[in-house]
Amino acid sequence: MSCKAAVITVSDTGFAGERVDESGPLIRDLLIQGGYEVVLYRILSDERKDLAAYLSLLCDEHQADLVVTTGGTGFSPRDYTPEATMDIAERLVPGIPEAMRAYSLQKTNRAMLSRSVAVIRKQTLIINVPGSPRAAKENLECILPALEHGLAILSGTARNCARPLGSV
Ligand code: MTE
Repeated sequence: MSCKAAVITVSDTGFAGERVDESGPLIRDLLIQGGYEVVLYRILSDERKDLAAYLSLLCDEHQADLVVTTGGTGFSPRDYTPEATMDIAERLVPGIPEAMRAYSLQKTNRAMLSRSVAVIRKQTLIINVPGSPRAAKENLECILPALEHGLAILSGTARNCARPLGSV
């Protein structure tokens, strides 16, 4: 059974149609390659309340098992994606952004400038990645291999976390 994924690009200029969104479609392709069924792709503005409301709707109606947001994780005055995500969080998943930043720091020291978070609400995992296509790809490629197991536990289809001795 494949997991359902949603991709949300968070960008005022993308939302206004002033910039072509490259990161959202790239993430959609990466997720499809990874075996996900991408049920939704949408561009939202950086408005914190709107983003939080939409994220909570996706989770509460269980429209997706995984939601990946891209953009709005930096220091710009309108960058509030992590805060909007935290606004509707039930549980935190710090290991995912820790892993993304550790991996990304090997590529650029600017990786420390992404304030991305990962959280769980009900049976949906939400992960923020930065906005540039390159950063989005680099962040996702390091976490995708581990996500399947986490999502299986979240959905209740896997309970046993034990790895056979000798496996990585
Ligand atoms: N992570 C990776 N892997 N590669 C990158 O090029 N860019 C950084 C950082 N994380 C980057 C990265 C930069 S320059 C910024 S400003 C922050 O992500 C935040 O990006 P955002 O505001 O588009 O979300």
